[in-house]
Amino acid sequence: MRYLCSSLHILASQLPLSLVQQRAALCPEQPAPELSGHGTMSFTYPSSNVTRVTINNGPVNFVDRLFADDLLDFLIPLQNVTEDTPKVVIFDSSNPNFWLGHIDMRTLATPITNEKKQLGADYMKFTQLLQNITSTVFIAEIDGRAFGAGNEIAAQMDMRFVGPRARTGSFEEALGLIAGGGGQTYMGAVLGKAKAMEYLLAAKSFTGPAGEALGLYNKYYDDSQVLKDSVLELAQRIALFPRVALNQTKSVLSFLNPPNNAFQLDFEAFYDIEQGPEQQANVRKFIELSEDQAANHYELGLGESVMALYGLWDGSVA
Ligand SMILES: *[C@@H]1O[C@H](CO)[C@@H](O)[C@H](O)[C@H]1NC(C)=O
Ligand SMILES: *[C@@H]1O[C@H](CO)[C@@H](O)[C@H](O)[C@H]1NC(C)=O
Ligand SMILES: *[C@@H]1O[C@H](CO)[C@@H](O)[C@H](O)[C@H]1NC(C)=O
Ligand SMILES: *[C@@H]1O[C@H](CO)[C@@H](O)[C@H](O)[C@H]1NC(C)=O
Repeated sequence: MRYLCSSLHILASQLPLSLVQQRAALCPEQPAPELSGHGTMSFTYPSSNVTRVTINNGPVNFVDRLFADDLLDFLIPLQNVTEDTPKVVIFDSSNPNFWLGHIDMRTLATPITNEKKQLGADYMKFTQLLQNITSTVFIAEIDGRAFGAGNEIAAQMDMRFVGPRARTGSFEEALGLIAGGGGQTYMGAVLGKAKAMEYLLAAKSFTGPAGEALGLYNKYYDDSQVLKDSVLELAQRIALFPRVALNQTKSVLSFLNPPNNAFQLDFEAFYDIEQGPEQQANVRKFIELSEDQAANHYELGLGESVMALYGLWDGSVA
């Protein structure tokens, strides 16, 4: 039992939820990581003032209803600042291939019900909360794929550090869609207009060194453990300092954020555009090629694999 508990402890971050729960039952002396309501993320506390959120939502870590609920449940209370409010939140992933995936593509297939559109609306709320919560700094620690929604959410965080497995980008335009969940506006703010146009319009993706050179990533590390250690060291340094200064710095730098009404316009445009016949054919083709969003060759081949829609993918996985 002891051996089982300790080996499960090491593996816990890679285990599916049911096994994590089993471990909690088997090993009461080691509390299981605290889980979000739907279990799509777990919370650990490397030191006071720092929270690590580890994303774990299915084979491609996609943004679906359950993840959206869990992220809102986590973010909303941070608006109320108390002594326990973390100064720094690090988002990482227990999935070695995916940091945070695209939106659940089934929610983009017509008919667009109110329920499906609500996911889009809640997604805009993350954008606002990640900005409105000025007393906490959000850091994306990316060592896997982050395409579509995952890339948009990363772009909205305050800093991004990446490791050797990072592959990110917005593939939406290849389907005739747009990165309309704040992604376009933030890519513009972070990369500048010309580079944002190039990468969005051509649905190009970034690896670590390229993204660092573009200023999208604060820093690229070629070693996953060095990434983790360095991000934690930075977080702990920030976390020592008085909150009032942190809050004022984040508040004042928000003048660089895209205007709030730009998100609303892009959100409405997204649902107009995505219901077109070409877009719907592409969404259905995407679901088919990905075998309904399994971690298959196609999903692992993002962002280049979207070119399969045009017969232009050589099948290689970056
Ligand atoms: C903030 O705290 C107050 C008082 O405890 C509570 O009534 C309110 O619901 C909280 N708001 C949020 C967004 O958590
Ligand atoms: C965030 O702030 C903006 C601008 O003040 C406001 O319009 C919006 O309702 C806020 N959003 C949330 C989710 O609190
Ligand atoms: C956490 O923040 C408090 C309040 O600013 C500070 O007194 C304390 O030293 C910080 N602790 C760590 C470990 O950063
Ligand atoms: C953060 O800074 C803003 C802008 O100065 C201020 O309005 C807000 O009250 C501050 N919040 C906290 C928790 O100090």
